Amino acid sequence: MPTLAVVGAGPGMGLAIARTFGSRGFDVALIARTAKKLDDLVARLGEEEITATAFPADVMDRASLTAALEAARARFGSIDVLEYSPAPHSPVAGFTTAAPSEADVDNLQPQIEYTFYGAVTAARAVLPAMREAGAGTLLFTTGGGSIHPIPMLGNVNAAGGALRNWVLNLHSELSGSGIYAAHIAINTWLGEGGPEGIPSATPEQVAPLYWDLYERRDQAEAVFNG
Ligand SMILES: NC(=O)c1ccc[n+]([C@@H]2O[C@H](COP(=O)([O-])OP(=O)(O)OC[C@H]3O[C@@H](n4cnc5c(N)ncnc54)[C@H](OP(=O)(O)O)[C@@H]3O)[C@@H](O)[C@H]2O)c1
Repeated sequence: MPTLAVVGAGPGMGLAIARTFGSRGFDVALIARTAKKLDDLVARLGEEEITATAFPADVMDRASLTAALEAARARFGSIDVLEYSPAPHSPVAGFTTAAPSEADVDNLQPQIEYTFYGAVTAARAVLPAMREAGAGTLLFTTGGGSIHPIPMLGNVNAAGGALRNWVLNLHSELSGSGIYAAHIAINTWLGEGGPEGIPSATPEQVAPLYWDLYERRDQAEAVFNG
């Protein structure tokens, strides 16, 4: 069976993407910081006859992230699809938001570590085996601000923009290799309770986009606008 690894697996997009691929024959490796929350997701997927295993790790701790992906490969034999989408619903050390003119190294560094360095670390953990196989898929998620930044998220959007730039370039570099890389920008609020006037969607509405990209393999980027 092919394997999907979700880095930053939570009850929103992480679970919806796991379901989308799992119901189409994938085993699933779930990576996030909190073992207990991952165990809940594993149980929920198990109820749908999707085989999932938890590999707790922190994307800010690059050694733990690499080790988790290596353990996932050892458990399932390969990682065929890597999906990167951590979201700071629980506190992340050093996280504050800053407008562009207020951005400094102190408030940018954690955002870059989280969004960009974590993604690069995850990709580098799985790429050698994908290159050997001549096959694989790398999907990286950000919010719409990576493309259309808004002042109140100056430092957050800069990190998303860095990730986006790198993924588009990775897509070009890997063209013809059998390995497909793409960036997905979710340009809506997910779930209920979003700010007034901001469009919202459910993770289940967004997740099919990931499967479409995986199957078509012809786009460096997709934007979900609701
Ligand atoms: N939520 C929105 O409204 C929204 C809007 C636009 C775009 N997006 C994007 O969509 C993606 C998924 O968002 P979501 O809200 O649906 O998230 P989700 O899949 O429900 O949860 C993400 C998970 O990431 C994990 N995480 C947080 N910090 C981590 C860290 N340092 N290391 C490892 N894992 C970590 C959290 O678990 P632990 O706390 O246990 O680590 C959390 O459960 C993200 O890329 C986000 O930027 C979200």
